[in-house]
Amino acid sequence: MRNFTNVHDIGPLDLAVKEALEVKADRFAYSHLGKNRTLMMIFFNSSLRTRLSTQKAAMNLGMNVIVLDVNQGAWKLETERGVIMDGDKAEHLLEAIPVMGCYCDVIGVRSFAGLKDKAEDYEERVINQFIKYSGRPVFSMEAATRHPLQSFADLITIEEYKTKARPKVVMTWAPHPRALPQAVPNSFAEWMNATDYDFVITHPHGYELAPEFVGRARVEYDQRKALEGADFVYAKNWSAYADPDYGKVLSTDREWTVDSEKMALTDNAFFMHCLPVRRNMIVTDDVIESERSIVIPEAANREISAQVVLKRILESL
Ligand code: CP
Repeated sequence: MRNFTNVHDIGPLDLAVKEALEVKADRFAYSHLGKNRTLMMIFFNSSLRTRLSTQKAAMNLGMNVIVLDVNQGAWKLETERGVIMDGDKAEHLLEAIPVMGCYCDVIGVRSFAGLKDKAEDYEERVINQFIKYSGRPVFSMEAATRHPLQSFADLITIEEYKTKARPKVVMTWAPHPRALPQAVPNSFAEWMNATDYDFVITHPHGYELAPEFVGRARVEYDQRKALEGADFVYAKNWSAYADPDYGKVLSTDREWTVDSEKMALTDNAFFMHCLPVRRNMIVTDDVIESERSIVIPEAANREISAQVVLKRILESL
């Protein structure tokens, strides 16, 4: 594998999950692969899980790791071509990217959607520039429209916990005070649509995701109806995708918060969330603290999804 930005880059999901479970059973079995190889992790946005789990995965593989927080200590970067750089941005991404590529063998990039210009966000300009100009394999640590390491970890988690061959997985919108990107729900939908699970998306009117991500999913606007018989409840907030409201918060209605009354409609479902989560906005304390909450094993699997991706990239060098 050269680059990893979406579900198609990982190939057949059954093989990817099998490999993930093998890695999880013996995570130091491939510690020779990364010897004298350097991973550079570049963050344009904050992170806890991605930063720690990806670094740990790289260390399991014997890699050296460099972490750059672009907004803390680096020169401010201009990303637009053709701009007269007479402002506060001292360096252009088009020089910075190949320079970063000189110091490493593999690059991970985190760069969120700006939520101002849909076309710009959905072009994935930042990560595509890294792919084009770095001269190195590049993987997404969450980009403008997808978070594939998260979705892969979500899939591994569902495969570990499912008790039916074809579980019902419900992704529900839930309220949040700030405008969040569509990357996690887009990506989760993309990965779920690549399985044969019964996959349902529920959200208020106005929160429709891009059709290419909704895919074969059933969309149900009645959250309670959607949750009936669910085996997994995947809660997430996202801002509006549809014009003219792209990137806006249209509702903070706590009627959509996942609480124990909603979970009682399910088939004793497991509760999932990518974290960080706003308690008592997205989910109530009792649900996230319940024994059916698997948010911590889900986060733990971020190390495994990152390790499979890094392993495959290292094997291709
Ligand atoms: N879920 C996730 O990507 O967490 P961080 O933003 O903390 O990396």
